[in-house]
Amino acid sequence: MLPFTRPSIGEEEQTAVRGVLASGWITTGPKAKAFEEALADYLGGGVRVLAFNSGTSALEAALLAADVGPGDEVIVPAMSFVASANVVLRVGARPRFVDVDPVSRNLSAVRVEAAINPNTKAIMPVHFAGRPVDLNPVYALAAVKGLVVIEDAAQAIGTRYRDRPVGAFGNPVCFSFHPNKNITTVEGGALALADHSIAKRLERIRFHGIEKDESGNVQVSEWGGKMNLPDVGAALGLAQLPKLDGFNARRRELAVRYLERLPSHPSLLVPEDVPGHSWHMFCVCIDYSALGTDRTGFMAALAEHGIGSGIHYPAIHLFALYRRLGYAPGDFAAAERIGEQTLTLPLFPGMADADVDFVCGALGELLGD
Ligand SMILES: Cc1ncc(COP(=O)(O)O)c(C=O)c1O
Repeated sequence: MLPFTRPSIGEEEQTAVRGVLASGWITTGPKAKAFEEALADYLGGGVRVLAFNSGTSALEAALLAADVGPGDEVIVPAMSFVASANVVLRVGARPRFVDVDPVSRNLSAVRVEAAINPNTKAIMPVHFAGRPVDLNPVYALAAVKGLVVIEDAAQAIGTRYRDRPVGAFGNPVCFSFHPNKNITTVEGGALALADHSIAKRLERIRFHGIEKDESGNVQVSEWGGKMNLPDVGAALGLAQLPKLDGFNARRRELAVRYLERLPSHPSLLVPEDVPGHSWHMFCVCIDYSALGTDRTGFMAALAEHGIGSGIHYPAIHLFALYRRLGYAPGDFAAAERIGEQTLTLPLFPGMADADVDFVCGALGELLGD
């Protein structure tokens, strides 16, 4: 079975993890610090990076450090992984959803501007599947309106925007290193800060609110959670990071091959290759009903060919939790269509060209080409 994703774990990673396990110190320590420094270098230097135990906790900490809370709204795209909105609820604020572009699946400054109201405190652009959001207009709008931008770059490690890495200039920018991401720490995440001044506060939020003075006395003056990345995961990440650009180059080759070989068919909408895309996922839309089937049937037929596929994602505002906030079908046409039609095809660096050709052939057959 060809899965839709698979982490690329080599000898280097296994040796690195074994080294930590044998070292006597397996939770947060020297490897986590080294991973933070290596990530900051990767992002071009100048930024401060803090490692977290998930992308979700990095986002939650970023919201708390921006003092987003009850009474505030955060603008979130209706098409993303549900974590993007859940973290907003978690800090006591409300997500204000906006629709996305049907092809890029990203929000735009125009849509964000229309959703701003007196309660808006922050904007959360999500770089869907590794495709960069057009950030300049979003940051320009945020500056004019006095809003915070918290980038959900969970899917975007290695993504570039106008020739700079995502994470090199935003404040804060949150990454995930879940096993399906372009590099992994098993579970894990990180937050990149151009403005180092909030780093100390984020460190406290990350670990029980604890701060130490020069004499080693401990003080707790605000709430903190348990969000630190253990060294076992950090060692894995340290071994993965030097391979990231190679992984992403291979992802792009495979994506371009898909784009060249997928049949052109009225029921199939394919993604676009744009500069800086890190090709975290290859997501198409299929009009299943026009083919006389539904997504479950289509996925089962692919599975019969030995091809795994995924659904990224149902539109967030239509989940029961968010309908209770007043959202309903018809609110965001593009996100809803993507939610109904999306299908993630296999894409990971360990795939062969022939795997892509095989998937394209099977899709052609199922589309009736
Ligand atoms: C867009 C988006 N945001 C947030 C997250 C949460 O990251 P994690 O799974 O590391 O908590 C993910 C992970 O899948 C994601 O894709």
